[in-house]
Amino acid sequence: MNQEYEHEVPHDSVEDEAEATRRDAGDAESSRASRGWWDRNADEYQSDHGSFLGDDRFVWGPEGLDEAEAGLLGPASSLKGLDVLEIGAGAAQCSRWLAAQGARPVALDLSHRQLQHALRIGGDVPLVEADAGALPFRDGSFDLACSAYGAVPFVADPVKVFREVRRVLRPGGRWVFSVTHPIRWAFPDEPGPEGLSIAASYFDRTPYVEQDEQGRAVYVEHHRTIGDRVRDVVAGGFRLLDLVEPEWPAWNNQEWGGWSPLRGNLIPGTAIFVCERAE
Ligand SMILES: C[S@@+](CC[C@H](N)C(=O)[O-])C[C@H]1O[C@@H](n2cnc3c(N)ncnc32)[C@H](O)[C@@H]1O
Repeated sequence: MNQEYEHEVPHDSVEDEAEATRRDAGDAESSRASRGWWDRNADEYQSDHGSFLGDDRFVWGPEGLDEAEAGLLGPASSLKGLDVLEIGAGAAQCSRWLAAQGARPVALDLSHRQLQHALRIGGDVPLVEADAGALPFRDGSFDLACSAYGAVPFVADPVKVFREVRRVLRPGGRWVFSVTHPIRWAFPDEPGPEGLSIAASYFDRTPYVEQDEQGRAVYVEHHRTIGDRVRDVVAGGFRLLDLVEPEWPAWNNQEWGGWSPLRGNLIPGTAIFVCERAE
């Protein structure tokens, strides 16, 4: 879900040769890097994290906050019959949970290989391979949109994505998405004590980029401060209803890259933005 992949990639892969740096990366370069990276790493991602995510649970992030308890989309009983778009759905675990509540989810992702994992797990959720910045749906097609760490952390222009989400939502529709908590960008992405000392400016928005020997980005993540994210949500045509910072629960002793019980007990790791289409 984050820079940890620098340390988790398979041998002899493109990433094996990749150099990690901070530099600008535009929309097209970020999108191309994401598609390639998730296609190459989907197998390992699902093998490492699939059992934590569950085939048909809706988990918001490495803390393990479950939508069944959190109710950030609204009470589970209110989801029945709703058209829901899941963005950056990966193997569509969240969409399967939504379908079990009686909703009609569509799972969208940029990565073909991630969607093949959705097919492998099964279920009746429609899958769409597309970029979050250009949603292939008519205006007002959905009642609700959601994303657990999908797309938003990886795009150079989040306002473009939010405007697209707004366009395909019906009036009053909710848009709920989780991202790495922005404060994490000031710390090394390490689960141990070395991940507790500030190493970079929180205010440095320069993207994190892994690039190959030719200088082509093979992985990109974009940093926005909390204030940036609030302004982006508003510029995208939404009202912010809540900003949830899940606390690390006592039951969760699992590390996920830089997310760990040690750090999770001290600083937030995930930010969940609960928004509603304005007007
Ligand atoms: C960390 S995974 C999250 C997947 C799933 N929600 C989960 O929790 O496992 C991020 C997903 O976002 C997708 N993604 C990245 N950039 C995207 C974009 N521009 N448009 C659509 N999906 C994108 C990736 O392919 C990947 O499947």
